[in-house]
Amino acid sequence: MQKKFKKKIDEIIRVNHAGEYGAQRIYSGQLKFSRKNSLKAKLKKIIEEEYEHYEYFNDAMIKKRTRPTLMSPIWHHGGYLLGVITSFMGEKYVNACTEAVEEVIVEHYEDQIKFLEKEGIERSMLKKIKKFQADEDTHKKSAITSNNENNETNPRLFKALTKNLTKIAIEISKKI
Ligand SMILES: [Fe+2]
Ligand SMILES: [Fe+2]
Repeated sequence: MQKKFKKKIDEIIRVNHAGEYGAQRIYSGQLKFSRKNSLKAKLKKIIEEEYEHYEYFNDAMIKKRTRPTLMSPIWHHGGYLLGVITSFMGEKYVNACTEAVEEVIVEHYEDQIKFLEKEGIERSMLKKIKKFQADEDTHKKSAITSNNENNETNPRLFKALTKNLTKIAIEISKKI
């Protein structure tokens, strides 16, 4: 890989590695305290997919000798805490959390896809990111569908807050 892209690729790996780990932590926190079987089955499937995403960036990190983010404890505890809190707030908030987080991740992956395509680099990683983006979009859509089916009102403030938190965590994890 060209040297000039090394820093940017490191940032991509570092933030995706952290984010996928955090996603898995959110869903694990939700799974732990959710009681409804249909919701639990959905969460289990999502956790498996987030873990697959995480493993890809974990391997990439080792191959490219990228250093992990110093924010790891925040993703670890913060992600889990967000999961626990939303599961206690109820299914509506579990879904709203998923919708908010995944929406940010889909946009975040879109930026990376555009960058990698423009520069014509890291083709295998690009393919993976496209696949993961499609998975995240499915997670988002299934959460929206679920809240619609349950005739839930839209918790706008909560979603805006969760989106902002996710964006901040992403920005910090690119750099440190
Ligand atoms: Fe993911
Ligand atoms: Fe996801």
